[in-house]
Amino acid sequence: MVWLLGQRGVHVVTLDNLSAGHRDAVLHGELVVGDMADRAVLDRVLSSRRFDAVMHFASYIQVGESVTDPAKYYLNNVAHTLALLAAMRDHGVQRFVFSSTAAVFGEPRYSPLDERHPREPINPYGRTKWMIEQALDDYDRAYGLRSVSLRYFNAAGAHPEALLGERHEPETHLVPLVLQAASGRRPHVTVFGRDYDTPDGTCIRDYIHVMDLAEAHWQALRYLADGGATRAFNLGNGDGYSVQQVVDTARAVTGRPIAVQEGARRAGDPARLVADAALARAVLQWQPRHGDLRTIVQDAWRWERRAAGA
Ligand code: UFG
Repeated sequence: MVWLLGQRGVHVVTLDNLSAGHRDAVLHGELVVGDMADRAVLDRVLSSRRFDAVMHFASYIQVGESVTDPAKYYLNNVAHTLALLAAMRDHGVQRFVFSSTAAVFGEPRYSPLDERHPREPINPYGRTKWMIEQALDDYDRAYGLRSVSLRYFNAAGAHPEALLGERHEPETHLVPLVLQAASGRRPHVTVFGRDYDTPDGTCIRDYIHVMDLAEAHWQALRYLADGGATRAFNLGNGDGYSVQQVVDTARAVTGRPIAVQEGARRAGDPARLVADAALARAVLQWQPRHGDLRTIVQDAWRWERRAAGA
C-alpha cells in the first residue's frame, strides 16, 4: 500500500511497532517506529501534519492464536484501535480505511458471500474485526468519522517485480507454505483435511492478489474523499480454488515437486469461503486485474525464489 501510494504521489507516514512488520518494507515516505497504543506518539505524529486519512493494517491476524490468547487480540485489535480512533477525532482526521476480513461471517450460510450475509464470527479474531466495524458505524453517526471496512478473503501474491511479499513469522498461510515446500525451505506442505464436502475433498478459498487489495484501498480513499458514506465491502475474485488446486498450480508454475502430507482438519475452517464482490465493483469501481490463482502463484514464487535464493 505504501509503495502504491508513493507511485501515486501521496505523502505517507507509516506508524509501525515492527512486532510483525519490517523496516525495509517501507519503500516510501517516513517510518515512525511506535505503537498505536502510545498516545504521545499519536499526538506527535498527528499534529506534525494535516492528514487526509488513516489506513489501518495493524491487527494481529492468526485465527488459532486468537483462540488460545484472546487477550492479545482484544487488546490490540479492539482497545488499541479505539485509542487510535480517539486520537484521530482529537486531531480532526475524519477518514479511515480499515482492513477487515471474511472471518466476520463465520460459518457460511450460503455462497458466494455478499455483504448482507449475517456476521456471526466463530473465533476471537473475527469478533475483534466485527466489533471495530460496528464501532465505526456508531462513530460515523455520532462524530461524522467516515470509514470503509475492506473484508479481505484470502490475501496472497506479491509485488510483481518481487519488491515486497509475504514475510510472516511463523508462516501459517497456504500459498507461501506451498511455495516454501517448492523452494526447499520446507520438506513438505500438510493438507488440512481431505474429507470436506467439496469436489476434491479439500477446502475452497477465494485467493485475491495483494496488488488488487492495494488498489481497492486506493479506490476507498477516493470514495471517502468524494464524500462516500461509511460502508463495508467484500474483496475477492469470486472464484473458489481448493487446497489441492493450489498445490497443483504451484507444481505447474514452479516445475518443482511439492511433497504433500495428509493432515487432520484444522479447527474452525469452513469448507468454502468465496466472495461476492459486486458491491466493491459497483460502488468503489474496483476491478481486480492481477487476477487468477496462476498469476498470484507466479508472483509469490518470484518473491519466494528471492527469499530462498532458489
Ligand atoms: N491449509 C492447509 N495447510 C496449511 C495451511 C493452510 O491445508 O499448511 C488450508 C487451510 O485449511 C485452508 C486453506 O488452506 O483451507 C487456506 O488457509 P490459510 O491459512 O492460508 O487462510 P485461511 O483461509 O485460514 O485464512 C484467511 C485469512 C484470515 C481470515 C480467514 C477467514 O488469512 O486472516 O481467511 O476465514 F481470518
